[in-house]
This record gives sequence, structure tokens and C-alpha cells, in this order.
Amino acid sequence: MNAKLSPGLLHDPAAREHTDFAPGTLDAFWMPFTANRQFKSKPRLLARAEGMHYWTPEGRQVIDGVAGLWCVNAGHGRREIAAAVAAQLTTMEYAPTFQMGHPLAFELAHRLAELAPPGLDRVFFTNSGSESVDTALKIAIAYQRVRGLSGKTRLIGREKGYHGVGFGGVSVGGMVNNRKAFSSVMLPGVDHLPHTLDLEHNAFTRGLPHWGAHLANELERLIALHDAATIAAVIVEPISGSAGVILPPLGYLQRLREICDKNDILLIFDEVITGFGRTGKAFAAQTFEVTPDLMTTAKGLTNGAIPMGAVFAHRKVHDAFMQGPEHLVELFHGYTYSAHPAACAAALATLDIYAKEDLLTRAAGIAPLWENAVHTLEGLPHVIDVRNFGLIGAVELEPRPGKPGTRAFDVFLECFERGVMVRQTGDTIALSPPLIIEPAHITQIVAVLDEVIRATA
Ligand SMILES: Cc1ncc(COP(=O)(O)O)c(C=O)c1O
Repeated sequence: MNAKLSPGLLHDPAAREHTDFAPGTLDAFWMPFTANRQFKSKPRLLARAEGMHYWTPEGRQVIDGVAGLWCVNAGHGRREIAAAVAAQLTTMEYAPTFQMGHPLAFELAHRLAELAPPGLDRVFFTNSGSESVDTALKIAIAYQRVRGLSGKTRLIGREKGYHGVGFGGVSVGGMVNNRKAFSSVMLPGVDHLPHTLDLEHNAFTRGLPHWGAHLANELERLIALHDAATIAAVIVEPISGSAGVILPPLGYLQRLREICDKNDILLIFDEVITGFGRTGKAFAAQTFEVTPDLMTTAKGLTNGAIPMGAVFAHRKVHDAFMQGPEHLVELFHGYTYSAHPAACAAALATLDIYAKEDLLTRAAGIAPLWENAVHTLEGLPHVIDVRNFGLIGAVELEPRPGKPGTRAFDVFLECFERGVMVRQTGDTIALSPPLIIEPAHITQIVAVLDEVIRATA
């Protein structure tokens, strides 16, 4: 090991081999969703990436079992994306999209509309999943108002839902740790459906569980309680990721759609993690054959290379705004970086890769192999459920008495030591590898998890 790495050297590629940090080097970065003190006492750094792998600063190879954070769907180090971004930055680094435009924004929206479920062919750009969610919620409420239904302002989310970290997303979300510090400042007029995770009925189901479609009927109860005339929209993730991979029971999403239609309520699918091929089609809406009215995306849109999000709106929603004097702004909402040129370039290059390599449907072909592999973990000590769909997997571990989350956290740490990056949430290990994964990678990921679960008390 070389001299200690100090703040001034952190950006220096020649210094990246150093793993010995001078005191204070890591202090300034307040890390998101991280146990900062634990991390900084034993940092886990990633310095380089290519294909299915990361490398640590010391040069240790780590296979990526989670596509970064569910975003690097086409695998790491895609030169086509880097080249497109570089070319765009040297041609025009920025252009506003408020009362102005640039060609790539229109081209990208058009390409996305072609990929989307029928009717969802109007696209509003954001910079993240959280912004996509807050944008969709605002569009839903404003849509009701432009139709003259200004009483329809309530939003219905779901327990254990994750919709990012904006006030809107946290309010409709249902992960208690994300909510409790902010409970007094949540959006008013929000209610939640029950979640659909039920180990008693569904543990170790392969693919979608058969039990639980009736839980969608809870929406009727909430409508009876609040009156449809007060409800703007229902938002759910077709598959919840952050709360530990929660799958929709067969028929559940169809039932939500029917109830929303019957009551003139918009249905929003948050496809931030399910979008762009994760379930075997471009969007989970297509895989599950349920078309929402609004669909939020981010992550895989640019393969994680440049921050960007997109909200897909049904044409009927968009068109409802296109009334009144033509010189007036129709929706008072947008971001300085909506459709940033570099992000558009990254997204277009990403869509080209997805098309050329058939990545948006690849998960469907490899899913049976993936399913068989992850289900070999059934029967290991402390494993209380294994769930899967498309290229998503989850292993739920029995919590240690009085210490929830620590068992899965230890599994996560040890997997990293043994060269596999997984994601831990509560006592669940979640898997969502890049869509370029090959059978040998699956074998490696599952073999290491198997070893580590057996070794973790
Ligand atoms: C379903 C869902 N919605 C929204 C978000 C928030 O996205 P971001 O972290 O880009 O704001 C996430 C992030 O994981 C997500 O999984």
C-alpha cells in the first residue's frame, strides 16, 4: 500500500490504487441512504467498470448483481454512450427547453413514444425517478382540474411502496423509515393500499404469486371512504423493488385498472426500476398487459450514464391541457435540465444499444435459467422466501431476534468481500443484474450467495 490518500488526491487516477485514507478524507461527503459512520470505518469503493463488472481501487473484480442501482441495464463501460455524450457536449452543452427547444429532445421523446404501451405517447422529461414521480402526481392533480374536477386531489399509494424522496413521492410511498422523520409535513389527502407481500400464502412462489389479487379490492374500500370525486390518482410500482422485491399477484394490476376506470381515477405505474427491459419487455405495463395513464421512468433510460427521467402521459391526459389561449403555458412545471442535451444524447445511444442487442426482451429468454438458479437458495439456513420475475430476484432472510436487517447486511458485506455486489434492504437481498448477463455470471452470483448465506449466522 502506498502513501495515505488525502482529499487533494482523490480525483487523481494515479492515486486510485491507494486504499489507505488520511484522517478526514472521507468526511465531507454526506452519503445518501448510507450508514455513513460504518461505511467510513471500512469503505467499499468502486473505481472502474466494464461489462458485468466493477473493479475496486486495489484492482479487485466485483461482479455487479444489481446493475449499479437497477440502472446499468446494458452493462458498464458502453463506449457508444460515452461517445454520444462527448460529441453533444462539444457541439452544444446546454440549451433551455422552456419556450425553446433542441432537436435531440424531440427525437428522444418520439423514440420513447414508439416503445411505450399504446396511447402513452407524450413524454415529459425530468432528471431522476423522484422528479418523475412528483411530476406525474402533479400532472394527475392538474389534469383533474383542467377537466373541471378540481375536487379530485387525493392520491392513493401503497404500503411498502417506494417512489423516491420528493415530498410527493415520500407521501405516497409506504416505507416507514423514509417517512417517519417527515410525518408532519407529508402531502395532505393521501391514503395507502395494503401491500401484497404475504409469505404465509406465497413464500417460494416462482414468478407471480397466485394468491392476493383480491387485495386490489381494497381500493374500492378507500373509494367508499373518501368518495371517487376526491381522488385524482392511484400510484403503484408494478413490481416494488426498494422494499425488497414485491410482486403483483396474478390479476391484481388488472383489477386496479378496472376499479380506476370505473371511478374515473388515473392509474400511475412507477416503472423507475421495471422500465427498460427488466421484466422481459420494454415496460412492465406491456409484460403484465395493463396500461396505466401515466408512467414514471428514469435509471435504465440512460443506462445510468447521465441522470435523466421521463414521465409518459397518455395522450388523453396531455390533450386535456391543450386548451385555452395558445400563447399561454399549459402546465406550470419543469426543470432547468428537463431534456438536457447530454442526457438526451446518452438516452438515444442507450436506446440504440437496447435495439441492436435486443436487450429489452432478453430478460424473458434468460428468466427461466435465472429463476431455477435463485430458487436453489431455498432450503438454506435462515432463508424464508425466494422471489423472482424477469431478471429480478430476492432472497428474504429470517431477521435476527431484536436486530432486524443485520443478517442481510452481513450477507451483503461478505458477498462484496467475495466479489459479488448485491443490494440489501431490510432482511432481503435483492438482485437485478445487467440485462447482458450470461449463464456463467448467474452461476457465480448464486454460488457466492449460497456460500455466504450458509456462512452467516
Ligand atoms: C420505483 C422507484 N421510484 C422512484 C425512485 C427514485 O428514483 P431516483 O433515486 O432516481 O430519484 C426509485 C429509485 O430506486 C424507484 O425504485
